[in-house]
Amino acid sequence: MSKVAKNIVDRVNQLRREIRGHDYRYYVLDAPTIPDAAYDRLIGELRELEKHYPDLVTEDSPTRRVGGKRATEFAEVRYQLRMLSLDNAFSAEEVAEFDRRVRDRLGDREIEYAAEPKLDGLAISLMYENGLLTQGATRGDGEVGEDVTQNARTIRAIPLQLIGKDFPPVLEVRGEVYMTTAGFDELNRRQLAEDRKPFANPRNAAAGSLRQLDPAVTADRPLGFFSYGIGVVRDGNLPKRHSEILVKLQAWGVPVSPESATVHGLKGCLDYFHKLAGLRDGLPYQIDGVVYKVNLLAEQERLGFVTRAPRWAVAHKFPAHEELTRVIGIDVQVGRTGALTPVARLEPVFLGGVTVTNATLHNEDELRRKDVRVHDTILVRRAGDVIPEVVSVVLERRPQDTERFEMPTQCPVCGSEVVKADGEAVARCSGGLYCPAQRKEAVKHFASRRALDITGLGDKIIDQLVEKALIRHVDDLYVLTAEQLAGLDRMGKKSAAKLMAALDKSKQTGLARFIYALGIRSVGEATAAALASHFGTFEALMSADEETLQQVPDVGPVVAAFIVSFFRQPHNRDVIAKLRECGVRWANVTPARSSVQPLNGKTFVLTGALAGMARDDAKARLQTLGAKVSGSVSKKTDYLVAGADPGSKLACAEKLGVVVLDEPAFMVLLAKHS
Ligand code: IVH
Repeated sequence: MSKVAKNIVDRVNQLRREIRGHDYRYYVLDAPTIPDAAYDRLIGELRELEKHYPDLVTEDSPTRRVGGKRATEFAEVRYQLRMLSLDNAFSAEEVAEFDRRVRDRLGDREIEYAAEPKLDGLAISLMYENGLLTQGATRGDGEVGEDVTQNARTIRAIPLQLIGKDFPPVLEVRGEVYMTTAGFDELNRRQLAEDRKPFANPRNAAAGSLRQLDPAVTADRPLGFFSYGIGVVRDGNLPKRHSEILVKLQAWGVPVSPESATVHGLKGCLDYFHKLAGLRDGLPYQIDGVVYKVNLLAEQERLGFVTRAPRWAVAHKFPAHEELTRVIGIDVQVGRTGALTPVARLEPVFLGGVTVTNATLHNEDELRRKDVRVHDTILVRRAGDVIPEVVSVVLERRPQDTERFEMPTQCPVCGSEVVKADGEAVARCSGGLYCPAQRKEAVKHFASRRALDITGLGDKIIDQLVEKALIRHVDDLYVLTAEQLAGLDRMGKKSAAKLMAALDKSKQTGLARFIYALGIRSVGEATAAALASHFGTFEALMSADEETLQQVPDVGPVVAAFIVSFFRQPHNRDVIAKLRECGVRWANVTPARSSVQPLNGKTFVLTGALAGMARDDAKARLQTLGAKVSGSVSKKTDYLVAGADPGSKLACAEKLGVVVLDEPAFMVLLAKHS
């Protein structure tokens, strides 16, 4: 080795130490201390030095994550210790049986368990020799896996070198590689934009990303890693408990789920399950249950394992959010704006606590892409409170003689022509308020809780009112009589009187609510509120031109055009005039002065972690200054604020020529306007 000046060697070592420290604070402690730009400068300096002094390059240098060449196939890795899988429990009773079995073998007393989330990704084994990552492998069949070392190295949450001193000379770390839900959404947006097939769920996306022959592709995917245990250990002194091993792993720089806990007895397990079920939808990654493990290693050993799974652990699964079922029909629904939505009618299936009989297919493009047909077996998903959707078709189970579903060319409700604007995925009925379906939906929207909030005016009542021609438009609601209402199905005298009172009460409303209730295309609650506070009076809004409208935060040229065109229609003006005649009224609003909103009309996107401010606070500060904060970068974005580890949004912003602010620049901007 040629001689390199000592100060250079020292600097290189110092940089590596510093970078590892930052990786540790970011991935393990979830508490970064420097902005991303500063981190990039450290990496940049190290890269520069390594370029000039190639002798100083080492395999574990933080610059060497994406060094691997494209492979033609993965080599096999035979495990010294089998990669076990887990038995499942689907109910509290099954967990009780597991706990009973454990106590039968260990003696009847309260057992100490380590409890962890069950991450929905894929298992990986990472071999560290003298603290250096020497091999990464997938689980495969548990005995033989695939060598994905080069890919594992690109995942920044996986340390290339362990930190500290007391790790065993040979240590196999096991855990789960996963994709965050946000990373998954972003990846699928990219896949679609590049005309590639989207992934069905974050687990498939994580698996597909790790099993890439080209490590550069893996490097570009938003993958994370949490360890949940160890495999082979040589010559090390490890603690006696699983939970203590996880603490050790963290100290060595290996990320462990912050949700891991120690619990006692069956009750402790079930309490933990309910706690995590509550946290589930708010976690940035997907979990499909929790895992309980007997905490003392000596007791794990006494229990041993059966064929593929240990007797000392069990996975307690959440009720499924995805299930298989069959399509018994496909209908097309017509929405308030005439949009046609294909909906699959399903054989009833129990999904995450409710029975599901319909799933949306969103629009024609989605329907085509998924090619869902009547009698197909499909995967249906329900996440949180959103409408269930069809994820994909199980093609292997497609019966013969199925036919591709075609969207109708005429509205299934009123027979008007169906039109599809260029570049839009949505097909629409051109019937406007001639179409009873659109009329019904317009009234439903008008009466809904966030609009005029007419209690007791439910969907079934509105359907009858429209079908019996008792109302055509929303203003007709206010000339209905108690007798007319009492004559409807599901209505008695009493409820008719109640509804009359509710109608009367709804006349006193707010400006923002009234604007929202009109159902102008693309004017949701937030836009309606922004319009109300900008214009102050309904007259000012009605007479505004497109240019004036675009001064309102949240309103771009498309929405401005919808608003102007809405108020241009004599029919709409007529309905509004009639509503006022019937006594619908609201208080005017003091308009917001745009001079106190210096960032009015500017769109910001936030990405990465800011060291000095929580993301929500940054968002709130920007919004008070009049800026719009959006979730994804587009041509409309004015600024991208990039904190630590900005991910793909940064690349996207750079491609589109969006101004990128690092944390210090962002702070200066806030200070200037505050
Ligand atoms: S322990 C001997 N802990 O679930 C026990 N597995 O169904 C081996 N998984 O292959 C696994 N989160 O990929 C364990 N906290 C966790 C886990 C977990 C997810 C996965 C893992 C395993 C599969 C078994």
